[in-house]
Amino acid sequence: MADQNWWTDKDLLIEAIRTHGNCKQAAQASTAAGVPVHATTLTSWCAKFGIKLSKRQNSLANDFDSPKNAPALELDDVAQKVHDLLQKTTGDRRHTISEIADELDVSPKRVRTSLEDLRRRGYRIPDSDEQVHIQKVLPNRTNLHRSLLEGNEITIGIVSDTHLSSNEEALSELHLAYDIFKDRGITEVLHAGDWTCGVDIFRGQVSEIKNHTFESQVEYLVEHYPQRDGIVTRGISGNHDIEGGFGRIGANPVVALANQRDDIEFLGDYSAWINYGPDEDNPCWIHLLHGKGGMSYSYSYKAQKLADGYRAERMPALLAVGHWHVRGAFEARGVQVLFPACFEWQSPFLTRLGLSPAVGFHILTLTIGNDGTLVKMVPEYFRFTEGRTVEERVEEMVL
Ligand SMILES: [Fe+2]
Ligand SMILES: [Fe+2]
Repeated sequence: MADQNWWTDKDLLIEAIRTHGNCKQAAQASTAAGVPVHATTLTSWCAKFGIKLSKRQNSLANDFDSPKNAPALELDDVAQKVHDLLQKTTGDRRHTISEIADELDVSPKRVRTSLEDLRRRGYRIPDSDEQVHIQKVLPNRTNLHRSLLEGNEITIGIVSDTHLSSNEEALSELHLAYDIFKDRGITEVLHAGDWTCGVDIFRGQVSEIKNHTFESQVEYLVEHYPQRDGIVTRGISGNHDIEGGFGRIGANPVVALANQRDDIEFLGDYSAWINYGPDEDNPCWIHLLHGKGGMSYSYSYKAQKLADGYRAERMPALLAVGHWHVRGAFEARGVQVLFPACFEWQSPFLTRLGLSPAVGFHILTLTIGNDGTLVKMVPEYFRFTEGRTVEERVEEMVL
């Protein structure tokens, strides 16, 4: 296990913990072999892969094969009926598991399995026996997370607004971006929302998209969103993912994607904070946000307004904010504000709004002090121009 970042390979990770007994000893062995790693990094990757660890020792629990890795399930008859019953329920009406079981004439256990299926497929159903319902109003959460990376210098990829299933999706460019990430040894990519184009987001959208249901957009996303060995993409959902038609059915395509793919992690709706600092007392926060409303006349004004909104108790070192499909980098109140561009070419909707998108992505190399301060940031912006083939772009982008 002398390979760099061997723990990003699920099988190697399981094997190492098995061989050495627990995460701590596996980390020590790796460090001794010249590939330094902390036990906490191994435990975070176990969590990411759904590898269950026993609480006391961080050794493997017996059933480490997570349901995350199970093949996608077709919604069976009972699950479909549970779904229909919950969708029909309005207002504050709640069901208990036994009520649903009685109503459908099946066992409570069967109802629970069906609810699990529905959750896996992205429906927001809180885990409770008494209050079973599909959540149509989003819960308000802060969404704090740890980085998967360790060390003072880290390199991450940033993408946003991929709008898969849109007629104007820049999917080959997105795949090229992931090839470049892979080539550069990047293991963590952040996504600032709008993974899908959604449905019923604006009038006339129906003619601008190629998949028209939640199921078909999820299927398309699972199949086409880039996947590269060793790269985990972590991200938030944007308005296109959870408003409009998908909002009305209380389902989230990013959750469904994360449940069906090991390399995707859902961090929250609209907003999430990730700590890249050395520990909780010395945080270096990246705030991942999906914006709202229109862009201001000047991008720097928007950057300033966003930075003004932070409370002094938790200021991010960097704000990566998607939604406007533009590219810009500013500093305001000590916050690095990045508008990360997008992966959707000019659509008729954007033309009507008088907006022309910036298509591209970023690689950021951050140097973080021991107290969590961001001391250096090297942003690289890769931009695509319309009309060139991907092959031509590969040549242009010296890898
Ligand atoms: Fe968007
Ligand atoms: Fe958006």
